[in-house]
Amino acid sequence: MNKQDFINSINDIRKNFESEISSIVSYDDLKQLKSKYIGRSSALNNLLCQIKYLPIDVRAECGSIANTCKHEIESKIKVLYDELCYKTDNLIDPTANPHKLPVGHQHFTTRAIDEITEIFERIGFYRVRYPEVEWDWFAFESLNMPKDHPARDEWETFFIDNIEVNEKYGRRILTPHTSSGQVREMLRVKPPIRMINISKCYRRQIDVSHTPMFHQFEGLVIDKGVNISHLKGVLDYFVTNFFGNNRKARIRPYHFRFTEPSFEVDVSCGICLGEGCKLCKNGWLEIGGAGMVHPVVLQFGNIDPNEYSGFAFGFGIERNYMMKSGISVDDIRLIYQNDIRFLTQF
Ligand code: DAH
Repeated sequence: MNKQDFINSINDIRKNFESEISSIVSYDDLKQLKSKYIGRSSALNNLLCQIKYLPIDVRAECGSIANTCKHEIESKIKVLYDELCYKTDNLIDPTANPHKLPVGHQHFTTRAIDEITEIFERIGFYRVRYPEVEWDWFAFESLNMPKDHPARDEWETFFIDNIEVNEKYGRRILTPHTSSGQVREMLRVKPPIRMINISKCYRRQIDVSHTPMFHQFEGLVIDKGVNISHLKGVLDYFVTNFFGNNRKARIRPYHFRFTEPSFEVDVSCGICLGEGCKLCKNGWLEIGGAGMVHPVVLQFGNIDPNEYSGFAFGFGIERNYMMKSGISVDDIRLIYQNDIRFLTQF
């Protein structure tokens, strides 16, 4: 075969195709036409296989002519296919019994995350995400918990064995809290900092109020002249916006190595509104930890504690969402059992 024969054959294919497609009115016929003209054993495919026997200097040109023809055929088939679809759709019997497809919705935790993010974004926080597989250094050492310090025991940490130990950063772990994002953020940007870090956390605990994987959100604000009243203002704002206008926040002295002073944060009980009842005993429910960032932590983040100060807080997402008025879940593990009967209630 020479170049002219090749081109003539392509032109014949095109002409035949044009005349055949003009009389097609059904899918089945269209399917057959498709396989006849661009299928594996079509004349066109056969020609494409012949290209290697043509003189070398015309192969590229012939290949391109054949491919153009193939694309034309494909696109004409597609146009007719869409037309036939449209016609068939319009033949649908509107009185027929519809089959409803089940429509899902976002997971309990995703909803909580979206809501919390939106509340903080309204007052100028921005969302960041830090690794779940973290270095020991960010989760502990940079937070003023040196190696072998007993305070670490509170975070029942999963260690990853078969990854090399880094000279500076230590071992790899699954992050046990979002506080590991604090120094990461300080090293990433200069103050002012207003981060909200939301991530999965892992601890070796499982019972009605713990799952080995859970979520936390961590707030960190660093600027000149930041003090406890700013922290309390943000906590009050969060509590009324998340739990409702009739709920209050309270801070109680506590100890964390990475904040000084440190607090536990409570919300007034949604059932007795602070009077004291069977659920809360004394009118308050604990929702997380907070405090003024320890000067040592600022230094690990290359921030001068004489110039800047800041506050931080860290709360569990599932636990807080469970305590929100109107949502009564008495076993946190249900959230991750993937039982559709449970999940569709929210
Ligand atoms: N990371 C702490 C925990 O998981 C919670 C926490 C306490 C976060 C005090 C903070 C803080 O930012 O200032 O228990």
